Amino acid sequence: MIPDKAPGEDVYQATCDLRKEAHVPSFEKYKELYLKSVENPEEFWGDVAKDFFWKSKHTGQFLDYNFDVTKGKVYIKCMEGAITNICYNVLDRNVHDKKMGDKVAFFWEGNEPGDELKVTYRELLKQVCKMANVLKSLGVKKGDRISIYMPMVVELVVAMLACARIGAVHSIVFAGFSAESLCERILDSQCSLLITADGFYRGDKLINLKMIADDALEKCTEKNFSVQKCIMLKHLSKDGSLLPEGSQSPPAKRACSDLQVPWNPEVDLCWHTLMEEASDECEPEWCQSEDPLFILYTSGSTGKPKGVLHTVSGYMLYTASTFKYVFDHQPDDVYWCTADIGWITGHSYITYGPLANGATSVLFEGLPTYPDVSRMWEIVDKYQVTKFYTAPTAIRLLMKYGSGPVQKFTRRSLKVLGTVGEPINPEAWLWYYNVVGEKRCPVVDTFWQTETGGHVLTPLPAATPMKPGSAAFPFFGVVPAILNESGEELEGPNEGYLVFKQPWPGVMRTVYGNHERFETTYFKKFPGYYVTGDGCRRDKDGYLWITGRIDDMLNVSGHLLSTAEVESALVEHEAVAEAAVVSHPHPVKGESLYCFITLKDGFDYTISLEAQLKKQVREKIGAIATPDYMQNAPGLPKTRSGKIMRRVLRKIARNERDLGDVSTLADCTVIEQLFQNRCNTA
Ligand code: WT7
Repeated sequence: MIPDKAPGEDVYQATCDLRKEAHVPSFEKYKELYLKSVENPEEFWGDVAKDFFWKSKHTGQFLDYNFDVTKGKVYIKCMEGAITNICYNVLDRNVHDKKMGDKVAFFWEGNEPGDELKVTYRELLKQVCKMANVLKSLGVKKGDRISIYMPMVVELVVAMLACARIGAVHSIVFAGFSAESLCERILDSQCSLLITADGFYRGDKLINLKMIADDALEKCTEKNFSVQKCIMLKHLSKDGSLLPEGSQSPPAKRACSDLQVPWNPEVDLCWHTLMEEASDECEPEWCQSEDPLFILYTSGSTGKPKGVLHTVSGYMLYTASTFKYVFDHQPDDVYWCTADIGWITGHSYITYGPLANGATSVLFEGLPTYPDVSRMWEIVDKYQVTKFYTAPTAIRLLMKYGSGPVQKFTRRSLKVLGTVGEPINPEAWLWYYNVVGEKRCPVVDTFWQTETGGHVLTPLPAATPMKPGSAAFPFFGVVPAILNESGEELEGPNEGYLVFKQPWPGVMRTVYGNHERFETTYFKKFPGYYVTGDGCRRDKDGYLWITGRIDDMLNVSGHLLSTAEVESALVEHEAVAEAAVVSHPHPVKGESLYCFITLKDGFDYTISLEAQLKKQVREKIGAIATPDYMQNAPGLPKTRSGKIMRRVLRKIARNERDLGDVSTLADCTVIEQLFQNRCNTA
């Protein structure tokens, strides 16, 4: 397990001394708190809970659970019986009890430099109350599902917190997803209402979001489900003003008056008109601890996305405490997480975790490369960012341009650097540490998943000596283990399946509408454990190293995709008989998609067909799933029972001739043909 003493060799210790004021100032202190958190969770989390408002206290044990499918239904309950409201806790409590109404909650920085806005806790609370009243006036009730499909604007936070305030369940869909993906998610959770925006810019590219949203709603209707109302925010249109009253700057400079916004008077409602009339006071709906808070879809190995469900109290305590400890949050920090709120990172570490701590954050709409590759560091200096959180793919992208663009800005304010989304290669880690942080700032490599709600393996910035590429040790309350194929726990230096032995407050509760799938995906393979789907190595010092997915999932730029969902998008084309997708290493994205296509008789494999297929995948799933490589595969390597041997395809994609054991292959001749048709991936 965790060593008694931190190793003194082969580790990095940042020069900036956070220790004087840090929440966890030493490895010994980490170990002490960790032991308390697993030996006496009741007391540990009870202390965390003291910082929140509870309408009534919990009655049963702090965590009640069954992780063992062989003993019955898997369940996790945290603080059962307690009554609270997460929106009240992250806003009202800060404004009223902690007297932080004038503190900035968000510095919004638009895609276009100069486009900016600041929102205090008081203003945010007012806007959220208004929106909550709007939703109520439209008949939204506790437990109803609301789909949100918006760009990175403050109103996205307003919409999600308004749902939380009235006990409605938000289901945010990343604005880069296609109409088809949005439709599928709306249908799965039967959302009665959609909140979207007219459009937005991503760098130079204009996205007509409303058009895509309408397309999705039409597809829903075709499938006999109608979303009753669609609220549209005018983000780009000229008369669309961001939050009225108070500290205003102009709305989107790049205002685009010729944006074609389709409008359906029977369904569509204007955000601004609704907000104008709504009251800015709204009594929160008091919720049970285990009431659902939100659904967020993540790829599943069968191809159909899973609606990961999180509930109120556990998620609140967990995001609040991970944010506090992992970024060592201090009151005067300016924190910036570059993720999109459409992913779990944004849910936990732009909205809920930071606001629960009364933090001031930067909310950035744009890209790291627009208008140039210095943008990130320009923003760091502009807002004097102290804690910065991004993805390895962004680091690798910027690394390609060298240290010049970084050094145009001082970055002197930075104290902690974080990464998330995929394993970080030591080269990128070292560049981040040496060039961006100038050896001053500890790097926290945070391993977690949509399912875990918050960080589960991570260094703590003032306590854990760092090893580049290692997510180090478990967060409080988390008990990891490494299992071999037969399910035995491996001790000491070893490699195998990463699992968790007991729940922590923020772990997901179910797959929305499909509890059986929840049990099958995470609990069937090794009864008694939560199975992450990741491989993991433990070194001689007890440090944990994530080795990547060990199921049929791919991680493209920190976003999970399943090979099955891409394959099913491909075979929907009339020319395609069969498709097999494997991962191929990519210098910036981490992994990219390499697709093998078997055509039906009578079709020719042409460049234009390839273009059509790529377009089809983009339209079905979204731009993140666009294949990088595609090749003609008149035959695929299969076992005698007909299973595609992806292991062999991965080798072919990489042009590695050593295929290992292919004795189960039904027909060996396909291999040579596939090597001949290989794409040039150099
Ligand atoms: C998968 C979860 C957690 C928010 C973003 C992704 C991979 C995530 C790390 C890390 C190595 C990582 C894992 C995990 N992953 N963080 N620090 N080191 N791998 O959320 O889409 O649910 O993906 O991302 O493979 O299982 P997600």
